[in-house]
Amino acid sequence: MKGIVFDMLRDMVEEQYGLEGWQAVIDQAGSDGLYISTDSYPDAELLGLVAAASDITAIEASDLVFAFGQFMVGEFYKRFPRYFDDCDGLIDFLLSVDRVIHVEVRKLFPDAGVPEFRYSQSTPEQKSPDQQSPDQLTMIYQSQRKLCRLAEGLIDGSAKHFDQSYSLKHPVCMHRGDSACHLIITLQ
Ligand code: HEM
Ligand SMILES: [Zn+2]
Repeated sequence: MKGIVFDMLRDMVEEQYGLEGWQAVIDQAGSDGLYISTDSYPDAELLGLVAAASDITAIEASDLVFAFGQFMVGEFYKRFPRYFDDCDGLIDFLLSVDRVIHVEVRKLFPDAGVPEFRYSQSTPEQKSPDQQSPDQLTMIYQSQRKLCRLAEGLIDGSAKHFDQSYSLKHPVCMHRGDSACHLIITLQ
């Protein structure tokens, strides 16, 4: 993971638990807390910080990862507003993640490990193409990191950004032995 992700995690912890909170997290994780935003660090290091934060706050690690995803949206908006402003709502934005945003991120940071998403606008319940609704999108997520909770938080933060209500189903998941995660977003 790029250092920029660690910077964002520090900002989130500091916002809610102050500098002492962040110091406690890095102490517990055995980290010096020095991250350079354009450098890369092992994923295990980030997961170690999340585990330490989970121990200290008694919040489940997967809920912290979700909250981190929500928080990242605001940080991404501060740094890259154009990606949001160029889009016509949540579904359009989510379609642009794989087609535009992560493509640009890979150009900017060739060693970034951005995941691949595939999209399907039909769901198992909607068998015929003419029944497809433009208000529904399935994101098929595949990554060694299995950070589907992060994706869920990013989707939730993005929905808030565009002020749109949605529901999410996650019937197929790598954590339940499937080969990818299916995130079905339905606008309400
Ligand atoms: C402007 C918006 C966005 C930007 C600039 C962005 C950029 C990035 C960057 C820099 C990373 C870290 C790569 C690394 O450290 O190696 C990342 C990872 C990730 N992004 Fe995005 N992203 C954006 C929106 C989203 C959204 C909306 C989703 C989900 C629907 C998403 C899903 C993910 C996931 C799941 C990862 C973790 C890496 C993995 O699973 O392998 N991103 N993104
Ligand atoms: Zn999953």
